Amino acid sequence: MRLRTKDFLTFAEIDANETRRLLDLAERFKRRMAAGGAPGTDLAGRTMAMIFQKPSTRTRVSFEAGMFQLGGHAVNLPASDMQLSRGETIEDTAATLSRYVDVIMARVFEHGDLVALAANSTVPVVNGLSNSFHPCQTLADLLTIRERMGRLRGLKVCWVGDGNNVCNSLIYGCARTGMDISVATPQRFRPMSSVVSEARDTISVEQTANPSRAVAGADVVMTDTFSSIHDDDPAKHRLFIPSYTVDDRLMSRAADDAIFMHCLPAKRGREVSASVIDGPRSAVWDQAENRLHAQKALLAALVGGRGRSRRS
Ligand code: CP
Ligand code: NVA
Repeated sequence: MRLRTKDFLTFAEIDANETRRLLDLAERFKRRMAAGGAPGTDLAGRTMAMIFQKPSTRTRVSFEAGMFQLGGHAVNLPASDMQLSRGETIEDTAATLSRYVDVIMARVFEHGDLVALAANSTVPVVNGLSNSFHPCQTLADLLTIRERMGRLRGLKVCWVGDGNNVCNSLIYGCARTGMDISVATPQRFRPMSSVVSEARDTISVEQTANPSRAVAGADVVMTDTFSSIHDDDPAKHRLFIPSYTVDDRLMSRAADDAIFMHCLPAKRGREVSASVIDGPRSAVWDQAENRLHAQKALLAALVGGRGRSRRS
């Protein structure tokens, strides 16, 4: 499959059909690996530049391993080692990298940097986390929910915590797959209103400051750290802990077969109790693994297959 979008920055770039086909492809890659199948060649001869302005474990390793498994190569570029750190512009960086590689993945503080990178790059740009969106996480999350629950359409997802990057992309992901979402956040930490209003064209998005109410009957309960890399303000924790901590009491309000999800890294005793994240309803390790399979599908659909991917 080939995506129509050049870049993948928010999740909104792909439609319902493309989302389903990407998940199908990810599932095929996963099955092939589990069966010990031969490594793929979908990305043979392709190179990806990975720019990191911020730390990463899952994104860094799953993208690099995914490129290797499909016959391609990834170049890791901590921003502090690049001329970016000495004042070279994003625009000049994008123009230069476009002459060397087939795709650029970047983790940035400001989403605007990704937009500038994409606007000045002739090759696809993938968001590996900005302050506003985390679309690759959403792809893996959808794959995990579909595996665990056997379907997506008609499910209720509940987000408890900070309504920032992971939550914004998740809302788009729910909209593309027909899942309703309830979001429990303190008023100041609600997701982007433009994302919520777009999603409301196709699904129900409930917003509340009451976690118990949001979780009621949910099939999936999801949270994230209260200390995002771009917004690590300890004072903010007072607004979240303990009422937004996902613990056994809160999980008991969800559906009987509800699962718990977290993009990781997690802080036990803060956004989630150890009993929940390490308990039988937790899907976090499958969720982390699925970053690998989902991103392989994304890269194959963006730059794999026929001809050179470079667009000039
Ligand atoms: N979930 C996620 O993006 O993890 P990393 O910050 O380790 O990449
Ligand atoms: N909201 C978190 C997600 C980390 C994967 C952050 O931005 O740090």
